[in-house]
Amino acid sequence: MPLEIIRNDITKVNADAIVNAANPTLLGGGGVDGAIHKAAGPELLKECRTLGGCNTGQAKITKGYKLPAKYVIHTVGPVWQGGGYNEEKLLADCYRNSLALAKEYGLESIAFPLISSGAYGYPKDQALKVAISVIGDFLLKNEMTVYLVVYDKSSFRLSEKLYSSIKQYIDDRYVDEHHVKRISRHIAYNAAEDRKIAEDNIQLESFTLFESARTLEELVNQTDETFSQMLLRLIDEKGLTDAQVYNRANIDRRLFSKIRNNIDYKPSKQTVIAFAIALELNLDQTKDLLLKAGYALSRSSKFDIIVEYFIKNGNYNIFEINEALFAFDQKLLGA
Ligand code: APR
Repeated sequence: MPLEIIRNDITKVNADAIVNAANPTLLGGGGVDGAIHKAAGPELLKECRTLGGCNTGQAKITKGYKLPAKYVIHTVGPVWQGGGYNEEKLLADCYRNSLALAKEYGLESIAFPLISSGAYGYPKDQALKVAISVIGDFLLKNEMTVYLVVYDKSSFRLSEKLYSSIKQYIDDRYVDEHHVKRISRHIAYNAAEDRKIAEDNIQLESFTLFESARTLEELVNQTDETFSQMLLRLIDEKGLTDAQVYNRANIDRRLFSKIRNNIDYKPSKQTVIAFAIALELNLDQTKDLLLKAGYALSRSSKFDIIVEYFIKNGNYNIFEINEALFAFDQKLLGA
């Protein structure tokens, strides 16, 4: 998966490079800067002394020394001063210049903390938005694995508006699986003398809960094309290239070529939905693609309901969807 959001201490991440949220002196500090210098050992500071500092928005590279990462890319985020002092552009430059440096060094993976969202006071939801949009743009045109490392959940915050709107959408639809079983048992038990009505109710109950999902077996057996064939057909019909689709699906090239070369490939549900997002399918088309792989959207899955929220709102930015899935402690989209 080209962009992964993970909870970890960045000094433990085994990427080719980890990014340090430094200050202009590059001579160490607190927060992630302090943690990296502590884990890398004194030689890191020794090398930093030779760099002559770093301007805000710029990036410089050193070795990783005792860190699992081979390199440390030091970048200096803007101090938040209310938003009127070019902070967004400078923060975006931190990600852009660090990625450019990683690419220049031929690195295959890089890990970022949420730059400026700590001591520098950048509002966490806006800092996250900048990170996701710059990394997402880069990954649509470049192959690299990027980790966005969240140290503590409090530092990972969706915009209040988006968070509450998704939460409301889930509350209106989420049906706890046990609750459904309880209702069905209750109906069956109370109407024991007329089993027929109970069963119809249960059918109705499960039917409405799964909306228009036709019976799985019936539809999967009807299939005249496999998941892989339907995917490739849709890519052609939409006039997209393979690279455009797997990049938008946050799926790496290797997995895509496995799917392309095996018409009976059985993908995970997350992978199917990632392709539905990449192809910008509507809800019914998404359900059809899922059925080809033997899956259905479910009301007892917050993951499914969040994905449905974004499809219904016409937001097919997989990196933003993953941001929301991460915020709700769900698996992310992509391989
Ligand atoms: N791993 C991953 N993320 C971390 C870690 C860690 N070990 N420690 C802190 N963070 C997170 C914080 O939770 C925050 O979300 O990194 C993000 C950035 O916080 P800071 O480290 O405070 O960096 P920043 O806000 O950019 O301020 C930079 O702080 O440490 C000094 O020398 C540094 O002066 C500079 C300023």
